[in-house]
Amino acid sequence: MGAQWGDEGKGKIVDLLAQNSDVVCRYQGGPNAGHTIVVGDETYKIRALPSGIVRGTPCVIGNGCVVDPEVLIGELDEFERRGHPTGEVYLSGNAHLIMPWHLAIDQASEHRLGKLAIGTTRRGIGPCYADKAMRLGIRVQDILDPKILRQKIEVALAEKNLWLERVYETEPFDLETVAAQYEGYAQRLRPYVADTSLYVDTALRDGKRVLFEGAQATLLDLDHGTYPFVTSSNPVAASAATGVGIGPRRIDRVLGVTKAYVTRVGEGPFPSEIAGPEQARMRELGGEYGTVTGRERRCGWLDLVALRYAVRVNGIDQLALTKLDVLSHFAELPVCVRYRTRDGSEMRDFPAHQSDFHAAEPVYEVLEGWDEPLDGCSSVDELPGAARGYVDFVERELDVEVTLVGTGAERAAVLSR
Ligand code: GDP
Ligand code: IMO
Ligand code: MG
Repeated sequence: MGAQWGDEGKGKIVDLLAQNSDVVCRYQGGPNAGHTIVVGDETYKIRALPSGIVRGTPCVIGNGCVVDPEVLIGELDEFERRGHPTGEVYLSGNAHLIMPWHLAIDQASEHRLGKLAIGTTRRGIGPCYADKAMRLGIRVQDILDPKILRQKIEVALAEKNLWLERVYETEPFDLETVAAQYEGYAQRLRPYVADTSLYVDTALRDGKRVLFEGAQATLLDLDHGTYPFVTSSNPVAASAATGVGIGPRRIDRVLGVTKAYVTRVGEGPFPSEIAGPEQARMRELGGEYGTVTGRERRCGWLDLVALRYAVRVNGIDQLALTKLDVLSHFAELPVCVRYRTRDGSEMRDFPAHQSDFHAAEPVYEVLEGWDEPLDGCSSVDELPGAARGYVDFVERELDVEVTLVGTGAERAAVLSR
């Protein structure tokens, strides 16, 4: 799972671990995610399916996810076309469907917020989870019966069209059009619908290895993130249990994925954001543009205060440190080790209140950079001295082992202990 603000390279790490897994499950989020996997000349950009699909591992989309049928069908078709069978994709009947009004409301609400906008991916995520909590949502299992599906769309539209017209002053949706559109999606998706909780439980009972893939990340978590600049689900590790429907004691190990620096897409506080031209340089070197929206990602130095918090709220046992190669181009590497607060005191632990976090100033320790490219290394021990020192520093400060180090986008560019 993501230990920062997303895009840490989870897709690539999941692809690696999928080799030794029997099932890969997504447990939250939806097509706001964008996970990239590079295999030789082929690049896969995945939003709805678990990243295990590239290795051909059976994949589960759990009840905690929100599903945009158009995006999911597009992905299923794409994988089939590229020679990856999708017969072992299992879609929870309890997952919620993203409906056209969710996209429209996400768009309109961001527009209305103006300067206060969250900078969402505008994929309808927040409105869909809000309807789930309001008990107005439409679930995947509702596509199994055309009559029920139409009825639920009708009930939802009666309220949504009022909002759209009167509050947001936008176009309402037509019942017949939406019903026909979703009946079409239903035909294609029905074969994938399954009791995924039972499927995962059976796999675990049979001694199989199950990997849970987080989307988004700790600081985007609805409860533990930098609210309100967060997503509307719980990416933290504990939510893997509720998002798939298994007990919490079935989870053996938590692997946090963190970049060797930090990026953030969208609005919200970001203490270690780089001021000046170095930020653009890092963006270019790291190719830091959003997978889903193409937006520029904001870039900053590694923030150990935030990472220590991620270790705490997820119970991270091990870290994968990605994109260390991107840092090869910097002579000096500031690392944020503490925050200075408004009263001038310094803290190593993440502030509990939003206004303290907004005011936090990073205190840096400057580590030595290295010039050598990292492509030639085949283990963490072979890293240039300063790069090795960077990894050691992270481990020491957090008291967590870094077991994987990313040295390039390609599937094979990862070092292990
Ligand atoms: P995710 O959302 O966490 O799966 O991450 P994204 O795929 O959105 O963004 C990570 C980007 O970094 C992708 O373009 C990856 O191909 C790339 N990437 C992943 N690991 C590494 C690495 O170790 N080095 C470099 N240079 N790129 C990487
Ligand atoms: P992956 O899985 C980075 C951000 C958006 C916005 C906030 C809320 O690829 O790491 P939402 O559309 O979820 O309501 O937007 O969350 N965000 C992400 N940022 N990576 C992601 O996913 C993200 N998913 C959502 O930019 O700030
Ligand atoms: Mg991403």
